[in-house]
Amino acid sequence: MTQDQLKAAVAAAAVDYILPLLDDDTIVGIGTGSTANLFIDALAAHQHRFAAAVASSEGSTERLRSHGIEVVDLNSAGQLAVYVDGADESDPQLNLIKGGGAALTREKIVTAAARQFVCIADASKWVDHLGSFPLPVEVIPMARSYVARELLKLGGDPVWREGVVTDNGNVIIDLHGLYPIRDPAQLESDINQLAGVVCNGLFAQRPADCLLLGGADGVTQHRR
Ligand code: 5RP
Repeated sequence: MTQDQLKAAVAAAAVDYILPLLDDDTIVGIGTGSTANLFIDALAAHQHRFAAAVASSEGSTERLRSHGIEVVDLNSAGQLAVYVDGADESDPQLNLIKGGGAALTREKIVTAAARQFVCIADASKWVDHLGSFPLPVEVIPMARSYVARELLKLGGDPVWREGVVTDNGNVIIDLHGLYPIRDPAQLESDINQLAGVVCNGLFAQRPADCLLLGGADGVTQHRR
């Protein structure tokens, strides 16, 4: 199976997973990226089963609306029953690196507002320790150089993702050379303490609750 076929398989499995959680009033949280896009496409056939969606990016909002799914602002949604999103890496504790698509801040907000976070990924994202994938850090533009110098002190190799502006009007610094991240929750906190950092792509203080992983032998379910 190709990576795209594996992503399509986990997207379909995620729809099956969340259908029992839905009712007419449910607002579903929906993430960003190619796997999340496939999830949106698969969910579209079941749009009569839930009320609306909250999306973690302008791109996902547009895709949801193109299927006729109503998208509402998180401020009017209250707690979400479930949030479904992809990841760039997951370790066995379901700590994640996210933000390859630069949507990490809104992803973290929607995750925080959800009762359950279901992560969907193909098997290439499964790692023993996080840190091979460069860790995205969203930064206020005027703080870019300062934050890069501070990130160097934390032991990483910061690279500005030139030309990328987030949905929030900020820039992204990718932090290379962190593998293996021994204490993801501590590093998440340390980076967030830096002035000018909006958010970083470690999801360790609030990891996934369930990971649906697509591999050669089918989709497997992992829990913490
Ligand atoms: C976007 C993300 C994505 O979930 C992550 O990059 C995985 O993307 P894909 O499903 O395309 O492999 O965090 O900010």
